Formats: sequence, structure tokens, C-alpha cells
Amino acid sequence: MKIVLIGAGNLATNLGKALQGAGHDIVQVWSRTEESAQALAAVLKCSCTTEAEEVVRSADVFVIAVKDSALSSLAASLKDGREGQLFVHTAGSMPLEILPFERRGVLYPMQTFSKNKEVDFSVIPCFVEASGKADEAMLISLSKTISDTVYVLDSENRKYLHLSAVFCCNFANHCFAMGERLLKEHGNLPFSVMLPLIEETASKLYSMSPQKAQTGPAVRWDKNVIDKHLQLLADEPGMQKIYELMSKSIHEVN
Ligand SMILES: NC(=O)c1ccc[n+]([C@@H]2O[C@H](COP(=O)([O-])OP(=O)(O)OC[C@H]3O[C@@H](n4cnc5c(N)ncnc54)[C@H](OP(=O)(O)O)[C@@H]3O)[C@@H](O)[C@H]2O)c1
Repeated sequence: MKIVLIGAGNLATNLGKALQGAGHDIVQVWSRTEESAQALAAVLKCSCTTEAEEVVRSADVFVIAVKDSALSSLAASLKDGREGQLFVHTAGSMPLEILPFERRGVLYPMQTFSKNKEVDFSVIPCFVEASGKADEAMLISLSKTISDTVYVLDSENRKYLHLSAVFCCNFANHCFAMGERLLKEHGNLPFSVMLPLIEETASKLYSMSPQKAQTGPAVRWDKNVIDKHLQLLADEPGMQKIYELMSKSIHEVN
């Protein structure tokens, strides 16, 4: 398929490489700055632009992967002269309707992407939605060329999928960052000491539910240990609050 990438950030870089690797033709990259546009165009060996008017007029699909707060206005700037084209966005929390096009869709690959970190796209679940059945079928088959797991999911349910991803990825990672700080400040230990524990925590989830896999003082409700930990966090009111809320929440659901 002929594909135009609108955006040259973390997602566009990884998706562009995966699509090209699957044999699709990335015809052009647009980005707000020359620097980003040229960097991704060099990787994909295609043309690039920073001007909305210079974006090609037709392709099988235009993939918009920009900062969510810029999505609506940028999409509107691409409308003129591209009526009848299929535009899709890649955001978990943005509705299909945010795109001001007759043919519109969503291709949300659920993973944490960074520009310079290679990913195996085949294991990344992709969630698609489209305004018409033919475009939905087209997005399913496009997604299946890069991923083994493709779901059709509407905007309403995708909001909750994204919310769940924030808990499972962003909040979990924030916990890792707090752990990293405690290790550094008390004993100057490298974060790598935690990696086997983190790996086993994630690996257990392939065979049991997170709720069943829970261990630690909160699930056992060892009040003496919990109180000791809260004391250790006396100078860290933010972390103390999170510890207390998390412990109560673990205790309540188990
Ligand atoms: N990263 C992830 O893990 C991930 C995962 C799933 C879905 N997504 C979705 O993918 C989309 C892109 O996210 P990302 O992480 O790839 O973002 P990003 O790395 O920050 O890239 C953002 C892109 O948007 C452009 N941009 C930034 N501000 C802009 C503005 N005010 N007006 C127009 N363009 C602007 C940037 O241009 P310049 O670089 O030229 O400034 C760049 O091309 C979002 O919808 C996000 O929800 C991301």
C-alpha cells in the first residue's frame, strides 16, 4: 500500500519501519520541523515536507501520528484537496470523530514506543476502527501485515483500553522510578538489582491473573511492616501517600 506518514516522532518512526519492513511503500513523511521530517525520511529513504500544502494529494492511507493536542488542527489543515482519501490516527484516547474526513479510521498499536528503541511489531496488539466497513477491512488487513494480533474496537472502549495501559505501563514505570530513587539515596545501588524481580513479576502474568499473582505486605496485611515503610517515607509525603493508597487498594481487592 502507498502510505503517507504525518508525524515523525516515536510512534511514526516505529510504525513507518514496520510498515516498510512488511513491504508497504512509505511515499512521504510530514513533520512540523525539518529536523524530525528529514531524520525519519532518511531512515525510510523517502521524501519529506514540513508544509501541509506539499503533502501528496493521494495515497491508500494517510497515518497521522502527532502530539494529541495538535491532532485536530493539523488534520483540518490537510483537508483541502484530499477529499475522499482515508486518514487514520494512532491515539488511544482520541475518538474517531476527531478526524474531519469522510473516510476516517484509527490504528492504535498498544506499546510504549521510543524513536531509538527497536520493537518487534509482530507481538504488539493493534486496535482498529473505521467509518466504513470497506475501510475497516482494509485497516484490519494492513495491521495484519505488521502484527499477529488485531482487534476491532470502537472509540468508547478504546478510551478504557488506553486508561488500562496508563495503569499497566506509565504508573508501573513511575513505581520503578520511585524505587530507583530509594536505591540510589540509600546504599547507592544500581537499578539493575531490581530487573530480575521486575522480569519475574511480568513473566508470572503469562500464566496467572495480576490479582492472583500479588504478593507482599499489603496482600498479607502485615500491618507492622506497612507502618515501618510509612515511617521510612516520613520525609517523602508524596511517596507516602501513594504507598498508603496502593496498600489499601491491594488489600481491598484481595
Ligand atoms: N509513543 C508511544 O508510546 C505511543 C503509543 C501509542 C500511540 N501513540 C500515539 O501516537 C501519536 C504520536 O505520539 P508520539 O509519542 O510519536 O509523539 P512524539 O514523538 O512527540 O511526536 C510528535 C510528532 O508531532 C509533531 N508535533 C509536535 N507538536 C506539534 C504541534 N504543535 N503541531 C503539529 N505537530 C506537532 C512532532 O513534530 P516535530 O518533531 O517536528 O516537532 C512529531 O512529528 C499520539 O497520538 C500518541 O497518542 C504513541
